[in-house]
Amino acid sequence: MRYSARADKATDCDPSDSGKGAERVARGFARAFAGKPAWIAQAPGRVNLIGEHTDYNQGFVLPMAIDRAVWIAFRARADRRVRLDSLDYRQSIEFDLDALQHGGAAWGEYTKAVAWAMQAGSHRLRGWEGVMSGEVPVGAGLSSSAALELATARAFAVASDIAWDPPAMARLAQRAENEWVGVACGIMDQLTSACGVAQHALRIDCRSLEIESVLLPESVSVLVLDTGTRRGLVTSAYNQRREECQSGARAFGLNSLRDLTQDTFVSGEARLDPVVRRRVRHVLSENERTLRAAQALRDEDMGRVGRLMAEGHASLRDDFEISSPALDAMVEIASAQPGCWGARMTGGGFGGCAIALVEREVAQVVGQAIASEYQDRMKLQPAVYVCRAADGAGVLPVKEDFLS
Ligand code: GLA
Repeated sequence: MRYSARADKATDCDPSDSGKGAERVARGFARAFAGKPAWIAQAPGRVNLIGEHTDYNQGFVLPMAIDRAVWIAFRARADRRVRLDSLDYRQSIEFDLDALQHGGAAWGEYTKAVAWAMQAGSHRLRGWEGVMSGEVPVGAGLSSSAALELATARAFAVASDIAWDPPAMARLAQRAENEWVGVACGIMDQLTSACGVAQHALRIDCRSLEIESVLLPESVSVLVLDTGTRRGLVTSAYNQRREECQSGARAFGLNSLRDLTQDTFVSGEARLDPVVRRRVRHVLSENERTLRAAQALRDEDMGRVGRLMAEGHASLRDDFEISSPALDAMVEIASAQPGCWGARMTGGGFGGCAIALVEREVAQVVGQAIASEYQDRMKLQPAVYVCRAADGAGVLPVKEDFLS
């Protein structure tokens, strides 16, 4: 469900909306190609409950896939060309698998990137044609790009008879984004979009890529709180944080902060540059909080999860320095609501979304209260999504009645 401060009633856009996404692309396909698609691929966005900026430090994260996805209706082609129409951007891309080149619509780069990475991973691809549409807000920190990458990978896998191996495909999608698109992201977004489990968060060890699903109690709703702010230069700030973490590891003679113990850090922190010291302190404490939050979730101790989220937000604000006045205000407003266990900023930072865990029964009321208080205080238009944990990338059969 999504609603804004001005809406007096939540509007529906949940998994049942899943059906709508599928229907939308199937109809779009029929208009564009005068026929029925053979398959519909979908891959979800994600939200991270806790474990921020730990993935590229080979640490722990606790995200979940959300019930908002990118959808692609498609059919295989006999040649090695790919054509994809975006219903959202009203644009079309077309390329040859033997002559991949940069350029054209920005969203199309993700499709080409996946084709490139799958071929670089020795997969023999066939062409296909399709229509896509997405429900994951772009630029909000909900991983719309990972969703597009995984939906594209799913489409290629089906069209080319490639067995679907979710973690392996997530690694290829990450490589696509790192090397073709040029964004140095970690593995969390792609792995979550590929491996999500309905009603569960995923406790991921970003070193071994071991995933354990952790049940979200029935009584809990996840509110995604979009501050309505986006910041430029996020990529350069992200890369700078990565470098600072890397230099922190090097200062202790290590390749990764995953190998730094709290004791070693405390005994050597005085000789670190103060900025690097704060970054390292965040990563070490965040790994610890993430493991404890996963355990608290298993124990259904939501009070404990909420306190860990609050500590995580303070660490991201003060030590990692990637929060913003809008994110801080959203978290403060959400945390003060009755029925809210905890809130924090989520994702890369500097703008985008916060997240709150709230009692399911009051989720709508709390969401509306947060939205209107935030709007009054910040004079910004927020959006609130009540999200459920969803399954990872999949393929749906095309129902006859989509097109009737
Ligand atoms: C972005 C990146 C992820 C992760 C988060 C921060 O979403 O894509 O890999 O690093 O930021 O936790």
